[in-house]
Amino acid sequence: MTKSSEWIAQEQKYYAQTVRRQPVVIVRGQGTRVWDADGKEYLDFVAGWAVDNLGHCHPAVTQAIVEQAATLLQTSNQFYTVPQILLAQLLIDNSCMDRVFFGNSGAEANEGALKLARKYGKAHRDGAYEVITAFASFHGRTMATVAATGQPHYQEAFTPLLPGFVHVDYNDVEAIMNATTDKTAAVFLEPVQGEGGVIIPDADYLKRVREWCDKQGLLLILDEVQTGMGRLGSLFGYQEFGVEPDVMTLAKGLGYGVPIGAFLAKEPAMALTFGDHGSTFGGNALTTAAAYAGSKFLIENNIPEHCRQMGEHLLMRLNELKSRYSFVSAVRGKGLLAALEFESNITPQLLTLANQAGVLLNGVKPNAIRFMPPLTITAAEIDEGLGRLEVALKKI
Ligand SMILES: Cc1ncc(COP(=O)(O)O)c(C=O)c1O
Repeated sequence: MTKSSEWIAQEQKYYAQTVRRQPVVIVRGQGTRVWDADGKEYLDFVAGWAVDNLGHCHPAVTQAIVEQAATLLQTSNQFYTVPQILLAQLLIDNSCMDRVFFGNSGAEANEGALKLARKYGKAHRDGAYEVITAFASFHGRTMATVAATGQPHYQEAFTPLLPGFVHVDYNDVEAIMNATTDKTAAVFLEPVQGEGGVIIPDADYLKRVREWCDKQGLLLILDEVQTGMGRLGSLFGYQEFGVEPDVMTLAKGLGYGVPIGAFLAKEPAMALTFGDHGSTFGGNALTTAAAYAGSKFLIENNIPEHCRQMGEHLLMRLNELKSRYSFVSAVRGKGLLAALEFESNITPQLLTLANQAGVLLNGVKPNAIRFMPPLTITAAEIDEGLGRLEVALKKI
């Protein structure tokens, strides 16, 4: 059997070296656990980057994939397919939205929403095209979403950026008000900033932004790529904050492991019409069948409520760790999206030790780690995973 070290050497020879990986070659996953090429078992608090919301290889998803793979994989979008229609109806029936378009990733979902905003501005705001977004946001790696992302280190190598984005501080409604001009078409925000380090806004922030958008005739677009499909303890993040966006994007957790993205809009906001947008693979029969089966299970079994309870348990345990280790400076979390922040940049060293102890985590900042386990995780698995993390923390 090829060992992890041999696979890693091969990757370094052939693969584009754009991602700094942790030295773990994952070959199998089940529920909250994964195994590497040397047979070592880990508790997975990364979950495919907040994707595997039902854990690895959930039977409902696996069965749907197997059945669909044997029935129909891909047609052209010139034709109708049943899984695409079923998934569309499920999402619309369970959200405040009226229409959905499926793509293949979070960035692509956001691209669609940004195109929609441009066309909306032309139709309803006299050609307005600017989109106000937040510093420390993350919206993807394509040219438009890099321009939207409020983190210079993702942008500097790729200038000139697509024009039309204005960045303001997150959690600051006045900053949005001050940045609004007759060129503004939309405000584009994450309900909780994930890649920014799990930054949770004030409880009334989105409500006040919503009021401002209503007053000014601006679209409120929420990027729910990371927060959607249960992660914050409600099916959609906007429900946690008591607002309804005009447009919302999804990806990650919508796919349960298969690549899918979506943008959804209320009818008055759905400016895109025939010929405005399309995708060869978007809404493909295989991915929508998997997403439909997973989403149906998630909704019918009220997994977001389980996530809320487990999120409370995780926060309690993280706060206990904070009280035991003086170099832990902050704990943040909502649902099963949480971060532990440190006084100094110990993340690389800590991740190495955590891997050795058998728990996978995401280094979201040089001084912070992020937790985004499957929403199906149990309290016992949280305790076990944090027990392994504590083995690592003791060695710092
Ligand atoms: C909030 C948010 N938006 C968009 C994206 C981009 O998604 P993708 O990597 O699927 O293109 C991410 C990915 O981390 C994200 O967290």
